[in-house]
Amino acid sequence: MGNETIPFLDLVTVHLGLQGEFIEILKTALKTAGFIGGPMVQEFEQDFAEFCESRFCVGVGSGTDALRLALIAAGIRAGDIVVTVPNTFIATTEAISQAGARPDFVDIEERTYTMDPAKLRQYLEAKCTWDKKLKRVFHRETGNPVTAVVPVHLYGQMVDMDPILDIAAKYNLKIIEDACQAHGARYFSKRGEGWRTAGSMGHAAAFSFYPGKNLGACGEAGAITTNHEQLAQTCRLLRDHGQSKKFVHDVEGYNGRLDAIQAGFLRAKLRHLKKWNEQRSAIAERYNKLFAGAEGSLLLPHQPDWSRSVYHLYVVRAPDRVMLQKRLDEAGIGTGIHYPIPLHLTKAYEGLGFRAGDFPVAEKAASQVLSLPMFPELTVRQQERVVSEVLKSLANISNSEWR
Ligand SMILES: Cc1ncc(COP(=O)(O)O)c(C=O)c1O
Repeated sequence: MGNETIPFLDLVTVHLGLQGEFIEILKTALKTAGFIGGPMVQEFEQDFAEFCESRFCVGVGSGTDALRLALIAAGIRAGDIVVTVPNTFIATTEAISQAGARPDFVDIEERTYTMDPAKLRQYLEAKCTWDKKLKRVFHRETGNPVTAVVPVHLYGQMVDMDPILDIAAKYNLKIIEDACQAHGARYFSKRGEGWRTAGSMGHAAAFSFYPGKNLGACGEAGAITTNHEQLAQTCRLLRDHGQSKKFVHDVEGYNGRLDAIQAGFLRAKLRHLKKWNEQRSAIAERYNKLFAGAEGSLLLPHQPDWSRSVYHLYVVRAPDRVMLQKRLDEAGIGTGIHYPIPLHLTKAYEGLGFRAGDFPVAEKAASQVLSLPMFPELTVRQQERVVSEVLKSLANISNSEWR
């Protein structure tokens, strides 16, 4: 079966396996016509809060809704600056802008591709001034307050959170975790707290249940997790047009509710998530073993000892990513690029005035990263073929020098 095509992601097999369960969920929803809110949403929220070791969960319409509503509920206002990284999906910065704030960036760590705490510290020390009276930090050039940080747990791996929490405490910043790619990821906190789960460490966190995520709906869905009761309450208001009771609008809100049917599907899938995440880790380990020896022409994902990644993606780096992707495509192997253009250089943000060279680590990574097939059902045989095609392609790509 040398020519079998291998998809980057197989979403069909898993859903066919759950068909029976999903039909029962649909029947329940049809019997009660409970399509918006109600017990299916509440039950999922309880289960997901527990899974994330977080006190509260508020289901919303998407990961983008989750980020936007969490930022607004955390008190981010028009004119604020919110700091994140350039190598994330645009939803991270869309949510910041749509909350009224201006996104700004700090560069990432070379090996984990996540926010470099040293760069965040440098940004605050070199570009900002601490106002003792207001207990706030202001961006020197624009005079705007920097009020929040959005660390992005990328590819299934958490950001090095301890130093970021220390910096946030020092500068009075809110932390909203972008956990859209990190359902169940773990971080060992040396602040005496041991292993912590994504979504439990910041002021609040945002999850996406876009179908391809580790926990994916059969449509659009998202959730906010938080340990702050007031923040959860505000998110509940905001997702439902600011209503505290029917037609009693305490604030102007949004239509950002989680569908009951999606909540039902998600709750059923959540019961499998631990096993699926373990399967992803086993696949990543197998890739690592099979690729041992290719170091030099291929950079493998790095998992520090404080991290337990859930491998939403298995991302390698190759000097000639374009050629490698082309060869794999010709061999029938699906790949992805997450993400080809760092956000500070994307057209939508031309107005922010960034230039090539501003965030060199993120820029270099963007030009070399390649995501290989990764999903729990990926078989050993399929993996062996992916690896053999990658190695064959690398051997044929001439003079693979790291730029
Ligand atoms: C890092 C990151 N942030 C935010 C989002 C937005 O989530 P959604 O597509 O559910 O709005 C995604 C999902 O694609 C993501 O990967």
